Amino acid sequence: MAELGYIRILEGTTPMAWTSKRKVMHAYDVTAEMYDERYSKEQQRKYRKTFENVEVLVTTVLDVGCGSGLFFSQVASKAEMVVGVDVSFKLLKKANEQAKAFGNVFVLQADADHMPFRDGVFGGVFGFTVLQNMPKPAQTLCELRRVVQVSGKIVVTGLKKAFRLEEFMDLLEGSGMKIAAFADEETINCYVAALTA
Ligand SMILES: C[S@@+](CC[C@H](N)C(=O)[O-])C[C@H]1O[C@@H](n2cnc3c(N)ncnc32)[C@H](O)[C@@H]1O
Repeated sequence: MAELGYIRILEGTTPMAWTSKRKVMHAYDVTAEMYDERYSKEQQRKYRKTFENVEVLVTTVLDVGCGSGLFFSQVASKAEMVVGVDVSFKLLKKANEQAKAFGNVFVLQADADHMPFRDGVFGGVFGFTVLQNMPKPAQTLCELRRVVQVSGKIVVTGLKKAFRLEEFMDLLEGSGMKIAAFADEETINCYVAALTA
């Protein structure tokens, strides 16, 4: 059964970064009840775009900033195990409810910059509409890269409201990873990028 965990949420986080993250966490907590209604359609477009470019047939999937768990139903049948990580306890509670529908999806509360996983454990790492919340998105990308297998894939999206195209490309290129696919579609409010380590 999926359980909520409270793991290492503050470890390695500086007080200043934590102040900003706590604000973000609070903002998502207070809007958690309306999250699905507001964002489900938009997020589904990003998932569809992802599957056009990335074949997800991996053993272990990490959904970073999983929110209410909208992505779980898209990957649960394709993976042996899916782990969702988020800072917002209220959204995680909703994600935990989603997770119960599958036998292989688990959620835990943790900071995307300091995740309680060993290096290289996930075959696929997904971060939909998360980077705009992070004080140092480049640091977050490093952490995503740390936990993915050498042969694994990372999919991240960049909210266009928060990142200009050149800025987002610089971020991706600066990560040292290879851009395997990139989409900038008018109907989607994020750039969608697939990276390989
Ligand atoms: C726009 S929502 C996207 C949720 C989900 N990925 C989806 O596709 O619906 C951004 C999510 O990032 C989470 N988040 C923000 N800062 C975070 C952090 N430092 N660590 C982990 N999750 C974070 C928020 O709580 C929220 O659930």
